[in-house]
Amino acid sequence: MSKSFRIIAIIAIVYSLLLACSKKQAEEFQPAVPGLPGAAAITYNNFVEPIFQTKCASCHATGRSAAAIFTLNGYSSVVANAARIKQAVLVNKTMPMGSSLSQSDLQSLQIWFDKGMIQQ
Ligand code: HEC
Repeated sequence: MSKSFRIIAIIAIVYSLLLACSKKQAEEFQPAVPGLPGAAAITYNNFVEPIFQTKCASCHATGRSAAAIFTLNGYSSVVANAARIKQAVLVNKTMPMGSSLSQSDLQSLQIWFDKGMIQQ
């Protein structure tokens, strides 16, 4: 093997390793939480709570029209009803009734469920 061939081979290997690393980082990038920098963790407090207060509380808070079906009353009420909420919001998309969540909110909500519903 000539010396120059060996140098080219080494450069090619290093280059492809660098490329693999940058690709991996891109795949792990998560959609931004509104109001938070880049890849900050999506939590109940910083993301789910404000969204659900705006999009669900008008019908599902205590004393509201649909409270008998699902009462939105803090973190534990969402965790206890996680399966139903996922089905209604992410799968069937029947909730929020009368409005909708943006594509990035749906994605962030999916990630929040997938990562084990972090509270704060
Ligand atoms: C305009 C009122 C309204 C809003 C806003 C609303 N809902 Fe509902 N929700 C209802 C009504 C009425 C039902 C029962 C009828 C139905 O299931 O279609 C219901 C049913 C549900 C159910 C039970 C589904 C099942 O059959 O198990 C869940 C869970 C739910 N809503 C979650 C949410 C979430 C989460 C949001 C916000 C993202 C939301 N809802 C926003 C009125 C609303």
